[in-house]
Amino acid sequence: MSTKTSILPVVGSHHRTLEVEVLRYDPDKDDKPYYQTYQVPCEEEWVILDVINYIKDNLDRTLSYRWSCHMAVCGSCGMMVNGEPTLTCASFVRDMPAKIRVEPLENFPVARDLIVDMDSFVEKLSSVKPYIIAADERTVEDGTFTQLPAQLADYMSYTHCINCLLCYAACPQVNLNEGFVGPAALALAHRYNLDSRDKGRSVREDVVASNAGIWECSFVGACSEVCPKHVDPAAAIQQIKIAATGDYFINFLMPWKKSKNTDEASSGGGK
Ligand code: SF4
Ligand code: FES
Repeated sequence: MSTKTSILPVVGSHHRTLEVEVLRYDPDKDDKPYYQTYQVPCEEEWVILDVINYIKDNLDRTLSYRWSCHMAVCGSCGMMVNGEPTLTCASFVRDMPAKIRVEPLENFPVARDLIVDMDSFVEKLSSVKPYIIAADERTVEDGTFTQLPAQLADYMSYTHCINCLLCYAACPQVNLNEGFVGPAALALAHRYNLDSRDKGRSVREDVVASNAGIWECSFVGACSEVCPKHVDPAAAIQQIKIAATGDYFINFLMPWKKSKNTDEASSGGGK
C-alpha cells in the first residue's frame, strides 16, 4: 500500500466505506478481464472520480484510467458505473448504494483497465467535417465573419459536447453496428449545418445522410438521456432526418433546385 499523501479531502464525519468492484484488464498480461474489489473510505461529497483517485493514490497504483479537469469539461472520465454510462467527476458518492461496480465504457475496445480505445470515434468525428466550410475562401482582409445572437442560438446547444462518449456507450445501435457514425458526431455535423457561416451541408451529406449515418438511428433516445451536457443528440439526428427527407422530395420533384436547396439549408433555410 502506498503512503503517498492524497490530494483528496480528509475523511471526516460524513463518511462511509464504499465497496468498489473495478474491472481490470491488461491485454499484455491478462487472458481476460477480471474484477478487483477495493474498500474505499469516502466522504459523501466525493464524486466517483475521487473514489477512483483514492484507489490509485492509496490502494493500488497499477490502476489505469483517464481524467483531467475534474469539472465536467474535458470529457475524459467517462466510465460505466453500476451499468450506466457516467461522467465520474460529476456523479456523487451520496447518490450511490454501498457497493458499486466501475467498468470501462461499453461499445469500445478496452485498451487497459478503465481506458477505452477511442480511435473509431475520432475517425467518425473527422468524417463529418466538423468545421466551418465557407462558400468562398476568406482572408483576414475580409474582416470578422459576423453572426447575430439569434443565429448563434440556432446551434448553441450542440456546441456544448465534450466528447465524453457516454452517448456511444448508451446507444444500442452503436452496439449492433460498429460502423454507425453515432450520436455525438451527428450532433456536431448538425451544429455546423445550422451555422449561418457554413455552406458545407451538401459536403457532409454523403456521411451524415447515409445508412451508417442518421438512418441507422432508431430513436431510442438513450444518448440524450445520459448526456451530461444536455446536448440532445437524439433531437439533432431527428432534425437532420426531417431536413434530408425534405431534400429528397425537393430533389426528386425539382432536380434543378438541388444545389440551391442544400446551400440554403446549410445556412439555416432548411431547418
Ligand atoms: S453528445 Fe453528450 S454524451 Fe455524447 S459525447 Fe457529447 S457531451 Fe458526451
Ligand atoms: S475529468 Fe474532465 S470531464 Fe471528468
